[in-house]
Amino acid sequence: MTDHWTAFDAAAARDAQTRIVDQFAADPDRLARMSVEAAGLYLDLSKQSWSRAGFEACLDLARACDVEGRRAALFAGEAVNLTEGRAVLHPALRAAPGADFKALGESVSAEVDAVRSDMRAYADAVRSGAEAGATGKPFRAIVHVGIGGSDLGPRVVWDALRPLDPAIDLRFVANIDPRDMAEALTGLDPETTLVVVVSKTFTTQETLANAEAARAWLAATLPAAGMTKHFIGVTAAPDKAGAFGCGRTFAFRDWVGGRYSLWSAVSLSCGIALGWDVFEAMLSGAAAMDAHFVSAPLEQNAPVLLALAQVFNVDGLNRPARTVAPYAHALRRLPSFLQQLEMESNGKRVHRDGTPVTRQTCPVVFGEPGTNGQHAFFQQIHQGPQVVPAEFVIAARTHADAPESPLWSNALAQGQALMLGKTGDQARAELIAAGADAAGADRLAPHKTFPGNRPSTAIVMERLTPATLGALLALYEHKTFVEGVIWDINSFDQWGVELGKVLAKAILSDVAAGGPSPALDPSTAALMTRLM
Ligand code: F6P
Repeated sequence: MTDHWTAFDAAAARDAQTRIVDQFAADPDRLARMSVEAAGLYLDLSKQSWSRAGFEACLDLARACDVEGRRAALFAGEAVNLTEGRAVLHPALRAAPGADFKALGESVSAEVDAVRSDMRAYADAVRSGAEAGATGKPFRAIVHVGIGGSDLGPRVVWDALRPLDPAIDLRFVANIDPRDMAEALTGLDPETTLVVVVSKTFTTQETLANAEAARAWLAATLPAAGMTKHFIGVTAAPDKAGAFGCGRTFAFRDWVGGRYSLWSAVSLSCGIALGWDVFEAMLSGAAAMDAHFVSAPLEQNAPVLLALAQVFNVDGLNRPARTVAPYAHALRRLPSFLQQLEMESNGKRVHRDGTPVTRQTCPVVFGEPGTNGQHAFFQQIHQGPQVVPAEFVIAARTHADAPESPLWSNALAQGQALMLGKTGDQARAELIAAGADAAGADRLAPHKTFPGNRPSTAIVMERLTPATLGALLALYEHKTFVEGVIWDINSFDQWGVELGKVLAKAILSDVAAGGPSPALDPSTAALMTRLM
């Protein structure tokens, strides 16, 4: 491995001295080599900082890290989640019926098919009114209660695929801030509202508190006997959901990671509100990306190339951030989804064997939909001292049938501007041409200079459909996995979220006892006193 990382570092050092735009002349096949079609998506990574040699060094690193072998282990249901001894089998959730996935040797596909069939029957029944509320009225709204992976995936799916005027409204509640629940319940009628409580563990404090609040809201109107029709659970702990008072419970298994769970019953609310055919089409799109990921050679493998571009930027060129700009209003939640998928998966500081990493791992991922981000933080992306690679997710058609050229033209212009920049001489000449005198031009030119040579990737789809959304989200899941293989970390646990939860409980018990305990540090004690 050392030799491969050494070659990687040498290639990155060389490429740090080159200009991206010059690479096209140096390598006429650059675009063909660094672009790939997969499952309805087109990826163009030719505006990344790597030369052909840098690109090849990344591929050599992927081979040396046994990406193909580790991919096979994941799809074979081996215990790839080392610290929890679990398989990681989100691809099983979107496989066509009759697949034969095994988790730690146990066949699981029949169970997946059965749950999917139950979900379909329930979704169809709610939509038809056959499954109605306690007072016989059909459901007109769903309140999805969950947080993290029990919220972000379904939320991005709903925003991406929802009709403008849905027959069944879907609202999400995640934050323990009662304002979140209050906003979600405003305007809803308990008699026509279905509450879906989603929690893999059914122990998450925010979700349990919100579930209590939603149940109280229902109970204030509904007969006790009918509550279970309005209050259902989705979890890997069905006993806990039943004990909590959930009526029907749709289960998923522990080999579904929270941030990889949107393909499971976690998205039941979407399956109902969108209609099962839409949800099924999304599953098929993800399955198409799975098929590409397992079969395409590394050099033409979309998730692999996307991962390698990030590793090259982070570890080769010391760029510890990436901005994601979905140029589609319907994908406005994609950056938030990716923050959990990538940063909770790969924001790790020890290797799989527990030894500390000696390189960077996951960068800070952030973003806003385009063109909004251009009017918010792209100033820094263009002229800040640090280089922040950009990722443009572009749909030719987002709402109307005609291509949205003003929208995607901006995305293309941003990638072009980041690559080309504007020299001081060019800036000065423009100022002179606009009437500035030499002194004025000299004074302003540095402020109007763009360094350029800043990398970006374009991920393009003809239209945002259930299938292309499924392919896009699966693309990112597999990219995240490949990065974890290269960084040699466990992408599937999240111990880093536990300490804060424990300390929050201790602070809450201090609050209940009337104030900070003597052991509390002065800063936290003063803050608590001020806030009580
Ligand atoms: O605290 C982090 C986390 O465990 C995420 O990994 C998970 O998606 C989220 O909380 C919600 O967990 P649950 O689905 O068990 O309520």
